[in-house]
Amino acid sequence: MKKLLIPLVLCCLMFSTASADTLTFSVDAEGKGMSDMLYGLFFEDINYAADGGLYAELLYNRSFEYADPGSTLQSQHLTGWMMNSLLSAKGKAQVMTEQPLNDSNPTYVRISVESGIYRALNAGYGSSAFTGGVNVTQGAEYSFFIYLRDAGFAGIVTAAITDRGGNPISNVVAFQPTADWQKHEAVLIATQTADAYLCVSLDGVGLLDMDMASLMPQTGSVLRADLVEALRDLQPRFLRFPGGCIAEGSYTHENVYNWKDTIGPVEQRKENWNTWGSMQSYGLGYHEYFELCRELNAEPLPVVYAGVLCQARTPSEAPLNKAQCEAYAQDILDLIEYANGGTDTYWGQKRAENGSEQPFGLKYLAIGNENWGTVYFDRFGWISGIVKAAYPDITLIVAAGPVAEGTLIQDSLRTIRSRFPTALADEHYYMDSDWFLKNTKRYDNYPRTTSIFLGEYAAHEPVSGSKRPNNLYSALCEAAYLTGIERNSDLVKLCCYAPLLARDGMQQWTPDLIWFNANAVLKTPNYYVQQMFASTLGDTVLPSTLDGAVYHVVTRTDDAVYIKLVNVSDQAASVDILAQGVPGGEGRFTQLSGQPKQVNTFTTPDALIPVTDGCIISNEQLAVTLPAYSVTIYELPL
Ligand code: AHR
Repeated sequence: MKKLLIPLVLCCLMFSTASADTLTFSVDAEGKGMSDMLYGLFFEDINYAADGGLYAELLYNRSFEYADPGSTLQSQHLTGWMMNSLLSAKGKAQVMTEQPLNDSNPTYVRISVESGIYRALNAGYGSSAFTGGVNVTQGAEYSFFIYLRDAGFAGIVTAAITDRGGNPISNVVAFQPTADWQKHEAVLIATQTADAYLCVSLDGVGLLDMDMASLMPQTGSVLRADLVEALRDLQPRFLRFPGGCIAEGSYTHENVYNWKDTIGPVEQRKENWNTWGSMQSYGLGYHEYFELCRELNAEPLPVVYAGVLCQARTPSEAPLNKAQCEAYAQDILDLIEYANGGTDTYWGQKRAENGSEQPFGLKYLAIGNENWGTVYFDRFGWISGIVKAAYPDITLIVAAGPVAEGTLIQDSLRTIRSRFPTALADEHYYMDSDWFLKNTKRYDNYPRTTSIFLGEYAAHEPVSGSKRPNNLYSALCEAAYLTGIERNSDLVKLCCYAPLLARDGMQQWTPDLIWFNANAVLKTPNYYVQQMFASTLGDTVLPSTLDGAVYHVVTRTDDAVYIKLVNVSDQAASVDILAQGVPGGEGRFTQLSGQPKQVNTFTTPDALIPVTDGCIISNEQLAVTLPAYSVTIYELPL
């Protein structure tokens, strides 16, 4: 955050403005307890958030498994690859399934060369091979591997990073394929910074089989460091994953995100169609998610399906019946054992083999994503009964449907309160920005019997161009809403914005909290609101009064008072703060302001960025002026 270049005195003038509103509170008043888990993240592989995003793999469709459901087009399996595109050989590439690398990885490519040098190029992620690119940095090292099988090839096989003309811009490594599938590995060092290709060259004649290639920056992590840093800076208390719709599966049970397909050696992970329109390599799988949680110091919160396919997409297969649900519940018990079991358990041992002897300490589990109705609640009951009997301490999360208002959510909440009162009810809603302003009191009168997890939300602005923008207005409406969430955080235990990440030019849903391209990360004003609120989480909400149009909440810990003020009007607002019991001295404030339609862009990433500065409180008073369209958080030490 930037430092604000205004003199300290501006924010600490004694009360002077005739038209100022007065905010009154006392630090000694009895407050309401707050959830220490309130702010977290929801990660889903939508908008190329995992493959093409957080997962640092540079190759697209690295194992030739890409296939739209229902499509018989062989060429789909070559998505992302340009075979002989430089037309430097006489030869062809054929998609094959006989004698594959393994059963989970059934498709590979057989290249036959008659003459010339045959080049198989991978262009990485991009909306097309021409806008994409395997983005490399001069001097950086990249781990490369590929599986090859000699099916009758006489010649030399090499790999390198190349420019768009196929000229090497890294060391060139040669491989000697054998008659059986064999993994060949090398380190490629880029000699240029470029949007490049990965090129496998065949100089000879005959048949060569090729599968499962990978090129990743050699950083010691399979995750993109700049994106991990952006997530860490949000100070998430939990991470909800892996979806969203992709967790529950669309149309067929084959499409369900099966956690067991996502662990172990990457070449043995069984890829699955991503309902958002790509393929899930599962390179970022359950183990990596758990490790990421550890790195972020966030509680893992997996979402597993409930035997019911995505209800919004008209499933073509029936939900699991009771016996099937009871059998499926074992998969969930296995997952909990994978996360929490000792190394003397079957799945705990698997976890250790995958790199973590230490358990991950799973405490939360959602069964279902956006589900509703008897068909769902019955299945939640069957499955959760088995899970709770084995693991009574786990906090379960039950879906309350995909809407904010109306009979569907009312019925869902009524059912949850009567049948599953100890589970957290998971609400999801994407509403227009003004709805958030009008509904800051939504939770004031909710019964306190069942706690709420606001698992997905975002303020939606009208579409402009092809996107709903992440503009300041939407961020301020979310900030105003969060004052209501904090006021009710005895009830709302967790909340997270959705979706989290989007690759620029490849987005499938807008708005999104963080945008990125191959080289840069773009934080939205919505991101900064989340960061400002999460970094100033109190443990107690203090009773407070403020007349006027400014949204507010006052919270405290033993060490500080946090005053959150959101001015969503086009006029500056003056507020006289009467802070009883707050000692005189220096505090600080952080502020985000600008024009309502303003956005950050890759060329102006800091157009909207919070600024921070000091303030002085004296005689339990502080007079402040809030700019039009602003959110300001004061932090006063106790
Ligand atoms: O966040 C995007 C999608 O919105 C999620 O996958 C789904 O749960 C909701 O409909």
